[in-house]
Amino acid sequence: MNKLLMTITSGALLCAAASAEPTERSSFDLDWKFARFGKMADGTRVPEPGVVTGMVTASSAENHNPVDHAIDGDTNTRWCAASGLANQWLQLDMGRQVEMTGVRIVWEKDSGNPFKVDLSRDGKTWVEVVPKAEAKGAEQTVRFSTPARYVRVVADGKQAAWASIRELEVLGKDGNVVKPEPATGDDVQLAPDAVAFDDSSWRELNLPHDWAIEGPFHMDIENETGKLPWEGIGWYRKTFDVPASMAGKKVYLDFDGAMAQPKVYINGEFAGEWAYGYNSFRIDATPHLKVGEKNTVAVRLQNLPASTRWYPGAGIYRHVWLTVSPEVHIAHWGTYVTTPEITDEAATVAVETTIDNTTEASGTFEVRSEVLDGEQVVATEVSSLDVPAGKTAMVPTSLTVKQPKRWDIESPNLYTLRTTLLKGDEVIDVKDTTFGIREIEWHNEKGFLLNGRKVVLKGVCLHHDLGPLGAAVHTRGMERQIEILQEMGCNSIRTAHNPPAPEFLELCDRMGILVIDELFDIWKMQKYGKVNGYNIYWDEWNEKDTRNFMLRDRNHPSIIAWSTGNEIPELGTPSMHWVPAKLRDMIKSYDKTRPVTAGSNNPAAATNGFQNTVDVYGVNYHLGSYDALTKNRQDMPLYASETSSTVSTRGEYFFPVDWNKSKGFYNFQVSSYDLYAPGWANRPDLQFEALDKYPRFAGEYVWTGFDYIGEPTPYNQDQSNALNFRDEKERKEAMELLKKLGNRAPSRSSYFGILDLCGFKKDRFYIYQARWRPDYPVAHILPHWNWEERQGEVTPVHVYTNGDEAELFLNGKSLGKRKIGEPHHYRLTWDEVKYAPGKLEVVVTKDGKEWAKAVKETTGEPAKLELTADRSTIANDGRDLSYLTIRVLDAKGREVPRTRLPVHVRISGPAEIVGIGNGDPTDHTVMKPVDPTKARITAFNGLAQVIVRSKRGESGAATIEIAGEGVGTTKVDVEVK
Ligand code: GAL
Repeated sequence: MNKLLMTITSGALLCAAASAEPTERSSFDLDWKFARFGKMADGTRVPEPGVVTGMVTASSAENHNPVDHAIDGDTNTRWCAASGLANQWLQLDMGRQVEMTGVRIVWEKDSGNPFKVDLSRDGKTWVEVVPKAEAKGAEQTVRFSTPARYVRVVADGKQAAWASIRELEVLGKDGNVVKPEPATGDDVQLAPDAVAFDDSSWRELNLPHDWAIEGPFHMDIENETGKLPWEGIGWYRKTFDVPASMAGKKVYLDFDGAMAQPKVYINGEFAGEWAYGYNSFRIDATPHLKVGEKNTVAVRLQNLPASTRWYPGAGIYRHVWLTVSPEVHIAHWGTYVTTPEITDEAATVAVETTIDNTTEASGTFEVRSEVLDGEQVVATEVSSLDVPAGKTAMVPTSLTVKQPKRWDIESPNLYTLRTTLLKGDEVIDVKDTTFGIREIEWHNEKGFLLNGRKVVLKGVCLHHDLGPLGAAVHTRGMERQIEILQEMGCNSIRTAHNPPAPEFLELCDRMGILVIDELFDIWKMQKYGKVNGYNIYWDEWNEKDTRNFMLRDRNHPSIIAWSTGNEIPELGTPSMHWVPAKLRDMIKSYDKTRPVTAGSNNPAAATNGFQNTVDVYGVNYHLGSYDALTKNRQDMPLYASETSSTVSTRGEYFFPVDWNKSKGFYNFQVSSYDLYAPGWANRPDLQFEALDKYPRFAGEYVWTGFDYIGEPTPYNQDQSNALNFRDEKERKEAMELLKKLGNRAPSRSSYFGILDLCGFKKDRFYIYQARWRPDYPVAHILPHWNWEERQGEVTPVHVYTNGDEAELFLNGKSLGKRKIGEPHHYRLTWDEVKYAPGKLEVVVTKDGKEWAKAVKETTGEPAKLELTADRSTIANDGRDLSYLTIRVLDAKGREVPRTRLPVHVRISGPAEIVGIGNGDPTDHTVMKPVDPTKARITAFNGLAQVIVRSKRGESGAATIEIAGEGVGTTKVDVEVK
């Protein structure tokens, strides 16, 4: 009897305790199943299972001319491919086998475009029934006699006549039109959102995951978006337990970002969706869950063609969290902390706390707010509020922190706000929010002030991909990027052109980086022919996207401005200025402590009214507009939101060295003399000069810190390549090469980075380091000194330094002194140096005293390999990384430039290879090896990279071994624990 009573009591206790458990957030990244459908890298198509509607599909479609226009019986409407490229197809699924005798095609116009017709019984194996034809006349019937279910018309688009079909009809046995029908019976497969769907053949993986980085690179995919198969459809499925303890709780799935158009199904039911691939969003799983059972979540993603100007990545590429909350809880992103008054003695910490009551009973609650400095509570306030049934309510509180430690770039002090929701004495929910105490001010004359002190913004723009890791979020990958940028003296980052991963902002808070957090690259108007850009979402999503962006990010001390967008067509269209005004107003409704800005590439926007929609004016390029701008906009703080866009390939130099910025391009590479840039851009020196001349500018954001995948300007638009070559012979060679390559340049990643795609330093790193770290002695020589074929030829030498005078020596013989400002201000040049092998040495002085030295020596042949790990111990959490650098050395241990040497990599033990790279923007080696235990990478200009990741829960030494022909083997251990 006694025993029974005890059991009941403890059971009851357990229940009570369970209902009072505060919000718990756990990773939902593990053990997913994945498969891809739709467009594959080679252009073929894998049908998406279970699709019964949408009987007509196409390789791509313009937004306003979608596929179903081709079967709507209306010849006024048409399907049109999204680009004028070859091999654009329209496919009809008849829903059953049909005795076909031909197809009738109503073309958009009499185009002469070549086309063919393929048939298939199963949608997988295709036969050509009309191999070669030409679109003639307005209407055309082609005949054959074959039973099939699928028919596909493949047409080549041209500049003036893209593949466009007004109507496509299938003719049956009697020659009459047969209509497609939704498949029935055995022909209908389950869709992946169905619980019973068989995913046993799908791949198992953990998130974050970017399916496109797995490649392969394909010549036929645009170089602008990285030649990787990001387009198409991806499905993810996961089965998970919902234990009895979750009964009576609110259960949410929090997605940090999914590319793109995520639709979430739980136990076969549609549970919610988002559109923009860069934003974070929450799905309320509660109404769809089965407590005490296995539950299934399925996520469908689709990336549309013509939706991006760079590589977006593909898949659930950021983390997913399972959040279990009590029915009354601190709302999602429900704390807002600002520090309206700060003195050395005290800081006011203003807090707004939002409580979400999902029950049917209203209630009165207390909110305890505590500020913690480390573990120590330094301020406490308690307030109470009523929260009506089914509603949210907000309570403001104010706390005082004595002798506040300010958040600054040099001392990024952080505090924690601990919010506790109480009902009487019972703790209902707890949430920690990290914040900083700091003052920011954008001043129209002084620039940017942090805690009252002028801080010149030494910034870079960053895209979200992490080179060989693709878009898949790796916190250590981002941390490493910031470490490298800080070594250069960078103190600020603009998140071009979209909200970053949440971990990125946490790192910036912790590491002392100032952030311009940017929301969009496109608003309501279409940009650069991207028919499926954000413009297709704007109407339905702009408010939701602004809300999530602001609520998620507004507590980060690192953020110093909200950027509504980048180079948006609306800037130059005054009738559309209500768009940025609306964005500004929405942003201000969430946060008034930071200014609103945007990156403008349109000088007219400084005076056409657009300027009234921002507090701080950001200028992209257009140095020539600085003068007028500073005069016309004396009222506004200014900064250079995007600068330079200098292009270069690490370790490549072309001769003769020409200072014309449109030269220096050869063999799909760009000379690293740092003189070359596209038409709108310029070398760093000219930007420095402009900023020195107009000190009202708060600073600059260089395009870009790191090379990124996609946008390989000057080889971005394939058809313009010929223009990039300086002499007739080279141009001809390039044209021949291009022709062989099917008129596509091989380039797949950018040349803009100060660092290459692996994060290896290009020469440019040192021109910025010299300027941005004036007290740190910098001397850097370019080019390398291995020019066997240039004996006696003029081979200019440039030096980046922050000293004021330098003497260059070749094999001990002085080649003369150069002074800063005579003639160049930001680099020293010896333009007449005649190449002779040996040792080039520069000795730099400052104020007459020796300041820095640098040496470049002619090396011998490759003799050995060096392998070093940036971290020799990593955590066994399945996420931590070590970046290994492979260097090709000569017998004396000197790095050999100009080497392209294949290296074999093997790993054993508790880590795996997750990325390989070499910084060559034209290399098509898949950067995520299929077999994570081995890889092959060609060292490019002396360097290659291997990124290894710990295996979850395993410990010990991982051994990475590399081997190359004629250079032997070497190995290194990385400890996993
Ligand atoms: C800018 C644009 C960037 C990038 C850059 C390349 O105009 O904002 O996204 O395209 O050009 O120079």
